[in-house]
Amino acid sequence: MNIAEQVKTANKAVYDNAEGVTLLCQDISITHPAEQQRIRRVIASISPGGGEKKFLDLGTGYGNVLRIAKGYFEYSLGCDLNFYPLAALKKEHPSLPLVCCEAEKLAFKDGAFDCICIFSVLHHIADYGKVLGEAARVTKRGGYLYIDHENNYYFSRYARGFLRFLMSFSARDREIMLANFHAFMGKGMNPELIRQELAGLGFSEIKLEYRFTSRSYAFVVFLLKLISKIYPFKSCYTHFSIVAKK
Ligand SMILES: C[S@@+](CC[C@H](N)C(=O)[O-])C[C@H]1O[C@@H](n2cnc3c(N)ncnc32)[C@H](O)[C@@H]1O
Repeated sequence: MNIAEQVKTANKAVYDNAEGVTLLCQDISITHPAEQQRIRRVIASISPGGGEKKFLDLGTGYGNVLRIAKGYFEYSLGCDLNFYPLAALKKEHPSLPLVCCEAEKLAFKDGAFDCICIFSVLHHIADYGKVLGEAARVTKRGGYLYIDHENNYYFSRYARGFLRFLMSFSARDREIMLANFHAFMGKGMNPELIRQELAGLGFSEIKLEYRFTSRSYAFVVFLLKLISKIYPFKSCYTHFSIVAKK
């Protein structure tokens, strides 16, 4: 099995079950009210007014972003590799359209959506360039691509080796690590490279923001914020987001 298949298999093992849904619900760095408000602000800023506007959430999981977006778009669709979280979401929101598919191979027409979101998903895919290509293809001209909650390579390069060591002791942790491939292994999520890739795919007005995951490890984040006030290096920030217009 090649590495892309191994990562996919790990993502199925981690998320295609009740434990995976619990994992998604309990991630405080995503579910904290302040974080939810931040996501809402971004979605509001990229939702165009008027008309039949369409939103696609790639790797929606249990619908973290989709639940917010449905209040701003006339049509909001979620897709994910795994059926289990989609089925759980469908039980709660029967009217939400959901599709079980790989983000690397989308069965949608070119320019089908006004806005595509990829939240905490790219680092789960070995060849995430394919996902960016597909996202670019299905984004309408003038539409937006919103990428968020990706581990900033400039920060994680210092911690990856240590975290890999910490997570090497149990089979479950090793699986989670493989599912989060670029957070721990691979080439990592380099925001500057992704910005270049998006420009090559026809996006303009690419807004890259470095940020902290503000909820977990509060003391470490406090120290990082302090350091970043004195030396605003991109290596200080744990995560990044990108909003790009096509
Ligand atoms: C950390 S979760 C994020 C879920 C959701 N976006 C959120 O904000 O809670 C990563 C999600 O990516 C999905 N995923 C992993 N590989 C995928 C692929 N190749 N295509 C589509 N979804 C994938 C997983 O099933 C999982 O739901």
